[in-house]
Amino acid sequence: MTVRDQIRPIRAQDGAALREVRLAALADAPEAFQARLEDEAARPEQEWAAMATLHAASADTTTFLLWQNSRPVGMIGAFFDQGRRDRAYICAMWVAPALRRGGAGGRLVDTAARWLAERGASRVLAWVADSNIGALRFYESLGFVDTKERGEIRPGQGETLLAFDVAIIAGVTQVLCPLESRPQLEETSTS
Ligand SMILES: CC(C)(COP(=O)(O)OP(=O)(O)OC[C@H]1O[C@@H](n2cnc3c(N)ncnc32)[C@H](O)[C@@H]1OP(=O)(O)O)[C@@H](O)C(=O)NCCC(=O)NCCS
Repeated sequence: MTVRDQIRPIRAQDGAALREVRLAALADAPEAFQARLEDEAARPEQEWAAMATLHAASADTTTFLLWQNSRPVGMIGAFFDQGRRDRAYICAMWVAPALRRGGAGGRLVDTAARWLAERGASRVLAWVADSNIGALRFYESLGFVDTKERGEIRPGQGETLLAFDVAIIAGVTQVLCPLESRPQLEETSTS
């Protein structure tokens, strides 16, 4: 790619950018997400501003945005479910179609996984719709494995929980490490 893109943690003033990229994701790939475009599009501006402010400051939930030419062109969420360090998730993953298969998705996952690991996660979880074959291949390529935990993204449409181990070993965050080839080293947590 000739134009450089950049992944940055969300800032309090990024509410409009968050709205833009989230609505683009829902319009592009509605089957990939539980949220519906019409519901998200109806949210008032203040809600996006409040979400950006929260995600910029929280130790439990955040968003990373992918930027190109000052436009948001991708995103990923990371959060601890109800603050639990053993329930660390990535979510809302999206890369603009024109940028796909260039490694941006992998870099977003890597960035979010590091954020979670640095706050105490040893395993990163991701729900993926069973019909979303591209995303399933994508997560597999990064080393995620099927936990066999099943859910429904919407009535009658299954989703599967994938997992991926992360570790902070001797103060260094090790990510993108398939569970089956994980090094047998003792983990320490920073939190
Ligand atoms: C899934 C998604 C985020 C991947 O983003 P990306 O920037 O294309 O990902 P990468 O370029 O880092 O891909 C890394 C590897 O994943 C695999 N991969 C990615 N997309 C794939 C696809 N559609 N089919 C098969 N394998 C795929 C490939 O092995 C790829 O490496 P390669 O290009 O060298 O062959 C992107 O396709 C997307 O936004 N999809 C729509 C939204 C979505 O489904 N989000 C996930 C919700 S759970």
